[in-house]
Amino acid sequence: MSVFNSSRLLRKSVLVTGASSGIGMATAVLFAKVGSNVIVTAWQVDALQKVVERCVAVHKEAGAQYGGKFVTIPFDVSDKNQIASFSNKIPAELRRIDILVNNTGYVIGVDCVGDISLENMEGMFATNMFGLITLTQLFVKERGTGHIINIGSIAGKEPYAGGSIYCTTKHALHVFTAALVSEVVDTPIRVTEIQPGMVEAEFSIIRCRGDKTAADKVYNGLQPLVAEDIAEEIVWAASRPPHMNIAELFVLPVNQASATITYRSKA
Ligand SMILES: NC(=O)c1ccc[n+]([C@@H]2O[C@H](COP(=O)([O-])OP(=O)(O)OC[C@H]3O[C@@H](n4cnc5c(N)ncnc54)[C@H](OP(=O)(O)O)[C@@H]3O)[C@@H](O)[C@H]2O)c1
Repeated sequence: MSVFNSSRLLRKSVLVTGASSGIGMATAVLFAKVGSNVIVTAWQVDALQKVVERCVAVHKEAGAQYGGKFVTIPFDVSDKNQIASFSNKIPAELRRIDILVNNTGYVIGVDCVGDISLENMEGMFATNMFGLITLTQLFVKERGTGHIINIGSIAGKEPYAGGSIYCTTKHALHVFTAALVSEVVDTPIRVTEIQPGMVEAEFSIIRCRGDKTAADKVYNGLQPLVAEDIAEEIVWAASRPPHMNIAELFVLPVNQASATITYRSKA
C-alpha cells in the first residue's frame, strides 16, 4: 500500500532541478508515477530526455489517469540570465508550478582552506545557493501558493574538514529556508528542507573528481541510502494535507550517525 496520498498530487505541476541523475531523477520519476506533471531540468539534454522516457513509462505502468505531461528544459541554474528566460520556456499549461524541488547541488574535491580554487568556490556558491534563491524568488512572487522543497544535506548541519565551501552553501540553504518559512507564514506556501546523509549517487564521483574507485570507497562496509529513498521522502512531504508543513527531515543510513561517525563492517 502506498504511504502517499497521491490524490493530492494528481495533475500538480512539479518542477525538479538537477533531474538528470540521482535524487532529482528518482524524484521526477516518482512524481510521474503518482499522476503529477513534471518539468525536469539540468544540463545534460540526452540524460533529461531519458528521464522523460522513464516518466512516461512509469506513468503508464501505474495506470495513472491524470498527469502525464513531462517536459525537459535544460538550463544552468548557476547562470542568472538563463534562469530569467527559463519561465518563458515552460509550456503554458504547466506554468503555474505547484511544487518546486530545488535539488541541484554539487561539491568538487576535498580541498582545505588555502587550496580551494576560485572557480570551484564560485561554481558551488552560484549553483548550490544563488541558483536556488533566484528560482525560489520567482516561485514565491509568481505563485503565492504551493510547496518549495529544498534539498539540503547533513553538510548543512555539521561542518567537516575538506568541505568548507560545500558545508557553507548547505548551511546557507538551511538558514535561507528557515527564514523563508517565517516570511511566508501568512500564506498557504509550504517550505520543506530535506537533509540527506550518505546517498549513493554521481555526487560522490564528482566530489572525487571523476575517480570512481575513490568514490566507491565512501560506501565501503555500509549500506548507503539510494536516490529512491530520498525521492520517497520528498513525495511524501509533498503529499501531506495543505495545512501541514514538513519543515525539516534529516535522513541517514542506519549505520551513519553524523558526517564523521559511521559503522562499517569489515567483510
Ligand atoms: N549524494 C549524497 O550523498 C548527498 C547527500 C546529501 C545531500 N545531497 C544533495 O542532493 C542533491 C542531489 O544530488 P545527487 O546526490 O542526486 O547528485 P547527482 O546525481 O550528481 O545530481 C546532481 C544534479 O544536479 C545537476 N546540476 C549540477 N550543476 C548544475 C547546474 N549548474 N545547472 C543545472 N543542473 C546542475 C546535475 O545535472 P548534470 O548531470 O546535467 O550536470 C544533476 O542532475 C544535491 O543538492 C546534493 O548536494 C546529496
